[in-house]
Amino acid sequence: MRVGVIGGGLMGSGIAEVCARSGVDVTVVEADDERAERSRAAIERSLARAVRSGKLDEAGQAAALEHLAVTSTFEDIAGSDAAIEAVVEDEQLKRDVFKRLDDLLPDAKFLASNTSSVPIMKLGAGTKHPGRVLGMHFFNPVPVLPLVELVTSIMTEPETVEAVREFAEGTLGKQCIDSQDRAGFVVNALLIPYLLSAIRMYESGFASKEDIDHGMVLGCAHPMGPLRLSDLIGLDTLLAVSESLYDEFRDPASVAPALLNRMVEAGLLGRKSGRGFYDYSK
Ligand code: NAI
Repeated sequence: MRVGVIGGGLMGSGIAEVCARSGVDVTVVEADDERAERSRAAIERSLARAVRSGKLDEAGQAAALEHLAVTSTFEDIAGSDAAIEAVVEDEQLKRDVFKRLDDLLPDAKFLASNTSSVPIMKLGAGTKHPGRVLGMHFFNPVPVLPLVELVTSIMTEPETVEAVREFAEGTLGKQCIDSQDRAGFVVNALLIPYLLSAIRMYESGFASKEDIDHGMVLGCAHPMGPLRLSDLIGLDTLLAVSESLYDEFRDPASVAPALLNRMVEAGLLGRKSGRGFYDYSK
């Protein structure tokens, strides 16, 4: 099996790593040579971490690296059996990528997107074969979290879904749930209103951030509280997903609190920027 992964950032590099560790020949396409090298370095670091923690042996690490290629030339994925797109969350860019994939890979079994908020139908609609387009929504960190949401548009063919389920579960060892093509899919449609209500609770002075987080960890056995989880996801990402949920459902629970807007405007994006609800700079 040969798979092309378009976009080798946080998610694309994780997806590529999981493919390579499962014996799939994977080629990551990045926007330029520098980013391609950065993506390769991230995957190599992650594989080395897996060896240090005893989750992978050195032979497995060497085998994974043999299955991995990284490039900035889109045409290098010609002949792949499938493609998974994980470029930045920009609808027009994703539509362009799907059009190019459709032309370059006429025989591919499926063209999947890891998008969190772009309707799958919009990506399929620009291709000649919308029946083989679907969402394959992985979770961060991809090598650790087992879930993949399979998102079918009204045009996705049942054979496509079954081929992807077989690939995700049988080849990659993931576990799938099915979702219709609705904003947020299953997990974010439930999670995002919860995170927003925790931010509203903190904003109104109802409780301290530490107590909100401790409450959910100690009282509900969540591995981390909602404000720390918001920092991990990235407050800009949280804001973007809340906006797409609100656009689709008009549910007040998905309206971003003013504090979230101000924090994103201030560049306080959470862990990735060094500060969000908590300080990560040290
Ligand atoms: P990221 O910003 O880390 O990675 C995106 C990558 O796309 C960058 O490395 C960028 O150089 C590359 N890129 C941009 N234009 C390109 C082009 N024309 N060709 C090839 N590569 C190009 O973003 P991240 O977090 O990996 O997100 C990627 C996708 O995954 C988005 O659609 C996002 O919504 C989705 N997603 C993100 C999750 C998260 O927790 N961050 C979870 C699940 C899905």
